[in-house]
Amino acid sequence: MAFTRRHFLQSTATVAAAPSMAPAANDRIQVGVIGAGARSHELMAALATLSGAQIVAVSDAYTGRVERTRERHGQQVKPYPNYKELIADKSIDAVLVVTPDHWHKDMVIEAVRAGKDVYCEKPLTYRSAEGMEIVRAAADAKRIVQVGSQLVSTESMRKARELIRTGKLGKVTIVRAAYNRNTASGAWIYPIPPDASPQTVNWEAFLGSAKKRPYDPARFFRWRCYEDYSGGIATDLFVHLCTSIHFMLDAKAPSRVMAMGQLYRWKESREVPDTMNALLEYPEGFVVNLSSTFNNELSGGSSFQILGTEGAITLSDGLAFFPERVVEDNRWIVESWPTRLEKAYYQDAKVRAAELPRTWKPALRQGAERWESQGADSTVAHLNVWLDAIRSRKPPYEDALIGHRAAACAHMVNRSIKQRTQVDWDFDKEDIRS
Ligand SMILES: NC(=O)c1ccc[n+]([C@@H]2O[C@H](COP(=O)([O-])OP(=O)(O)OC[C@H]3O[C@@H](n4cnc5c(N)ncnc54)[C@H](O)[C@@H]3O)[C@@H](O)[C@H]2O)c1
Repeated sequence: MAFTRRHFLQSTATVAAAPSMAPAANDRIQVGVIGAGARSHELMAALATLSGAQIVAVSDAYTGRVERTRERHGQQVKPYPNYKELIADKSIDAVLVVTPDHWHKDMVIEAVRAGKDVYCEKPLTYRSAEGMEIVRAAADAKRIVQVGSQLVSTESMRKARELIRTGKLGKVTIVRAAYNRNTASGAWIYPIPPDASPQTVNWEAFLGSAKKRPYDPARFFRWRCYEDYSGGIATDLFVHLCTSIHFMLDAKAPSRVMAMGQLYRWKESREVPDTMNALLEYPEGFVVNLSSTFNNELSGGSSFQILGTEGAITLSDGLAFFPERVVEDNRWIVESWPTRLEKAYYQDAKVRAAELPRTWKPALRQGAERWESQGADSTVAHLNVWLDAIRSRKPPYEDALIGHRAAACAHMVNRSIKQRTQVDWDFDKEDIRS
């Protein structure tokens, strides 16, 4: 396994979390939370460990989520039935946007226009065309927007980036990244709270601009399975992989993408594929092979292999570097020649130096190096980066543009699957080429 959900939270090595001096209560960044579901509770728990911020308000479309937020973070956390009222509250400095994907754009844009800094969960967008709208709105309002693919704030990913930058891998031409699961919960079939009803769920608020439909608790609590609210595996999981790959290899976006998606197994519960494979070609001179299935979890969680001419990095449960020890071996070719020519070939000093003696490769390559994960969790680290950006007014690495490009990779994957064609990126427009 690799970066599983738990791993995301607990064991990924990170940058130091807490600032050295705790600010006074009124110096703390006052944070409002829009969407208080499963991920939001992880974010709020992480934020509560950081002394520079305070959770002061919450808005959610299901009453149980608001109740749990106030149980955990105190009854002084002010509930807002409508997120627009939370955004209008001038005492709030910054917001977490942790709603289903089809809501991200409107909420982020409204928040920055109201002067809030924003942490928006990945994927930044539901459609690629929304990305530059958000980027421009954030720039116009001079607000910090950080997107929530937290792995880029881990020590292991920073170390991997440094190894690649210093040339330790030689020329990287292939990256393989995967995200595999084999459980119903991994396939987003989450339990529905027993008190869910049109009285406790604000169905209209959830739908927003999505197609009108009658109340459906499966759509509300398992929204990733439905195209009206999510791009499935691509927007949920590939986006993490793409953000990380762009960070480690200093890449902007793929010039072209081809993908296939299949729904082999979880057919009763969804519209979106449970198996996806994609090829993303980058102008920097490498190709990325993304793969995900919900039907087997061998090397589960997220895992990366970055393959260079001089060495390879694997990043899953910790980081490892494997040098390439290349030994030329033309024996099987030369043994098909006449004996006299074979003998002559091996009398050549250059050949002897390059090809002899023939050795067995040890199981663990000589010179391999490993770095174990240590430190606080990746979510704490990523939120800490966000709080630092709010204080310094310097954009974090994973700003709106970076988040847009990573989400756009997912949209290109989905478009390629639907259209059964190659999908191209327009680097001038920063959008999918139409
Ligand atoms: N970074 C990560 O590792 C990670 C992990 C899980 C989820 N996420 C992201 O977090 C986001 C939320 O995912 P989740 O798993 O928490 O989903 P969830 O369904 O558990 O939570 C979403 C919440 O949004 C609320 N909501 C919907 N419409 C609303 C509205 N108009 N106003 C206020 N609240 C509204 C819902 O009531 C729900 O409680 C998604 O974008 C997802 O991709 C990121």
